Amino acid sequence: MGATSALSRRTVIASLAASAVTGAPAPGRPPATLSSAAARSGRWFGSAVRSEHLAAGHPLRPLLLRECSSFTPEIALKWDALEARQGVLDFTAMDELAGIALDSGVRLHGHTLLWHRSLPAWAGVALGRRDGWGLVDRYFASVMPRYGAAIRSWDVVNEPCDAGGRADGLRETPLLAAFGPGYVERALRLARQYAPRAALAINEYGLDLDIAEDEERRAALLRLVSDLRGRDVPLDVVGIQAHLDLGRGPFSESVFDRFLRDLAATGVAIEITELDVKEFDYIASQDERDRQVAALVLRYLSVALRHRAVRGVTTWGISDAASWLEVTDADRARYPGAWQDGPGPGLNRGLPFDAAMRPKPIHAAILRAFDTAGVRAGR
Ligand code: XIL
Repeated sequence: MGATSALSRRTVIASLAASAVTGAPAPGRPPATLSSAAARSGRWFGSAVRSEHLAAGHPLRPLLLRECSSFTPEIALKWDALEARQGVLDFTAMDELAGIALDSGVRLHGHTLLWHRSLPAWAGVALGRRDGWGLVDRYFASVMPRYGAAIRSWDVVNEPCDAGGRADGLRETPLLAAFGPGYVERALRLARQYAPRAALAINEYGLDLDIAEDEERRAALLRLVSDLRGRDVPLDVVGIQAHLDLGRGPFSESVFDRFLRDLAATGVAIEITELDVKEFDYIASQDERDRQVAALVLRYLSVALRHRAVRGVTTWGISDAASWLEVTDADRARYPGAWQDGPGPGLNRGLPFDAAMRPKPIHAAILRAFDTAGVRAGR
């Protein structure tokens, strides 16, 4: 063997080792994308998007179109974004998004019809009036058929459950106050009228960790879903937001696995809808921070993707440059004086690409989770 081939072999081995850590492709191979890895396991990979991030020339656009086979509007479809003034519906941003998704063949998930945190300011009082449900009906009627071609699945109710409150586990919201505990069923039945063939979902957060609060919310959601399915209410999908948080408590494979099994047993499909990681240890080196984020995501998705009911994974953004996760004052206060002479902790690093659009270990972790998952078939 000549010196050149020995050298090139060394180079290949070195680059393979590097790719195992960073997700960087071996030379000569096209970079592995999250959407292609997801497709090989019979699933989709998606990201939350804003229409401006998909505008021509925006640095996120090529990344989003390359890595994603599904988009979720981060803001454009929320009621307060569409109808800030009662009766004046502004579809500009959402129409743009729907057009781009249709043109590029990307699946679009309808997030979200009813969410207590995206009710327009005017709706607080108006929903409680005698014709309050008429407002919900008119809103569903104006958005669901309009996006019928582009949107085949809808979050009909976002975050209906809570821990530490009512005995039935429903969250106290203006929707519950106005329409009573039957509002979830009523909303699903209404949504079915306007989108007869779409998949209808409930989306929920705080289901991930081995802590009492999450256990209570898991139990509440399971009760709600079993009850609705048992009475043939049109509920097809449960979305698990998966806003992971390294400071909130431990993750347990067996606890999460059992929850997914129980949920799947009710007959719903499951989606991971808003995956990201809020960091805790901002004083650690960047490599260590990225390692912690990636390790949790790998553990989490390895459990999730064991289940054939789990049909797709969406992260809440693709790059730290446009993340809703912030380093907060409370985070900084944990390390008094730590960054007096330096640049500070920078951005929260809980999404697949950094602010310069370079893939991070979390990207490699998602690829690996898809690559080692079984191939799912069917619905
Ligand atoms: C967030 C967006 O990312 C923010 O830009 C917006 O200000 C508030 O909503 N759970 C959800 C998402 O279901 O809709 C939220 O998105 C994040 C938490």
